[in-house]
Amino acid sequence: MPKPLVTLAWIAASCAYLLIVLGAVVRITSSGMGCGDHWPLCNGHLFPPLDDSRTVIEWSHRLVASLVSVLVIGMVALGWRRVWVALALLVVQILLGAVTVKTGLTPVMVILHLATAMLLLAALIVAARPGRRSPLLLGLTFITVLFGALTANLGAIASCGAFPLCNGQIIPSAGPLAWVQWTHRLLAYSLAGYLIWLVVRSADRRAWGLLAIVVLQIAIAATMIQLGFPGALQAAHAAVGAGVWAAVVITTVRPAADPAAAAAASPLDPTLPDTH
Ligand code: HEM
Repeated sequence: MPKPLVTLAWIAASCAYLLIVLGAVVRITSSGMGCGDHWPLCNGHLFPPLDDSRTVIEWSHRLVASLVSVLVIGMVALGWRRVWVALALLVVQILLGAVTVKTGLTPVMVILHLATAMLLLAALIVAARPGRRSPLLLGLTFITVLFGALTANLGAIASCGAFPLCNGQIIPSAGPLAWVQWTHRLLAYSLAGYLIWLVVRSADRRAWGLLAIVVLQIAIAATMIQLGFPGALQAAHAAVGAGVWAAVVITTVRPAADPAAAAAASPLDPTLPDTH
């Protein structure tokens, strides 16, 4: 595979990551309407006056989205068929983004938007680094992230106080929103437990790395809850959350052309007999 294209795919993946983090910053700072209900223009302009922080945030989000679009379309135009999935997701993402603005940020649209963004990030990483992944690890992480988006967008942050339990309860009695956040937490704890099991079983350095970032994410969540959800920690939780997803997509891989990795027996490699 031509190296410049692989480099382009990594750049596009980095921009897609930045796009996800900026999307969370848009939500945390309530900047979703920073460009009014105009799309693709921003307050009626291609280059709007940047005299309001919300306009700056929403417009930066759209600017990085444009950059990702140019990179993906460019790679397709260069004849790289491996990026077709990313292109399809990009089209869905742009349409969802437009509908989200027009419908006034309904939770379902915001969640679909985040899910597609995560899949786009994964598709670009896979284009840059093809190979087989562990479906269990990918699935568990993806669902954890989706329940995080539900927690953030359904207004379920205040429903579960305290850490690690939900209002000190193993079975929360505070209603459906508490259950949404509690499910997100239980999935995160399961992911951590599964990675601990992988570390104990294989002493694989890749599993150690994933466990480290998940433990960091849980520590950020605990601090965020104890301190009453400061915006900086909410943004950090969103950034590291997307980082966990990217790390899982990057790490649970056995590059097809890499014989050394192929030979390395590891439970993270789904092609081996002791798979999970
Ligand atoms: C593997 C671990 C975890 C991952 C990958 C993860 C991921 C995420 C993601 C992607 C979001 C949505 C961010 C956004 O769209 O703005 C989120 C939100 C949230 N997560 Fe997690 N999370 C993890 C662990 C936890 C844990 C252990 C807790 C609680 C103890 C927690 C509590 C929350 C809360 C309260 C929100 C809503 C925050 C907000 O509204 O900004 N998360 N999480």
